Amino acid sequence: MHEILCRELKYEEGNNELQAYLKDSPGSDFSGELVDNSDGIKSFTYLSLHVKPEMRRQGIASKLVSNLAAAAIHYRANSFEGSVSSEHTLKIFDKLFGENNIEYYDYDNENNRVYLPMTNSQAISSLERAANFESNQEWRDHNIEVDVNLSDPKLSLPTPVFEDHTNRK
Ligand SMILES: CC(C)(COP(=O)(O)OP(=O)(O)OC[C@H]1O[C@@H](n2cnc3c(N)ncnc32)[C@H](O)[C@@H]1OP(=O)(O)O)[C@@H](O)C(=O)NCCC(=O)NCCS
Repeated sequence: MHEILCRELKYEEGNNELQAYLKDSPGSDFSGELVDNSDGIKSFTYLSLHVKPEMRRQGIASKLVSNLAAAAIHYRANSFEGSVSSEHTLKIFDKLFGENNIEYYDYDNENNRVYLPMTNSQAISSLERAANFESNQEWRDHNIEVDVNLSDPKLSLPTPVFEDHTNRK
């Protein structure tokens, strides 16, 4: 059983990255950036999710996502958002957060965010179809913007365990 740890990485530019990773096996992690929005609300922007090929289909990505979502809530983020390129990631989000907490969006010509009337299964099918046109299945070009609500009290997430020397707020 792999133990998942979370840590906060602070960069000189002032960026604040949160990461969930396997304690005993480097190379599989999920990370994102904590963002202070102009309205004073924090959000968490998805950066990357990767599980080593030989360790896949054991539920590791699901655990990384649920632990990092819990860590983001610990840091008072009420949502996380970002580009998702894998239908498998969307399936994981669907199982963990449910239909009512996930929205899909794009940008119009003026760079305004426009929410798309899509269900989770429509979004998953869309990325499954796009995968047929990808030359590299590991790092794909097609993606969909996803906004996950973390403020639903019904979410069932683990208690995040932080790396000892993480500088917690
Ligand atoms: C996508 C990725 C992170 C999934 O990691 P993982 O540890 O294998 O995922 P999990 O074991 O937690 O899978 C959870 C669910 O996702 C779906 N899933 C994951 N990999 C799948 C695959 N190869 N085929 C079909 N379904 C898959 C399934 O619904 C699975 O549940 P199940 O095993 O009960 O059927 C991993 O395949 C990866 O790193 N891929 C390359 C990089 C990438 O695409 N990153 C995501 C960018 S958005």
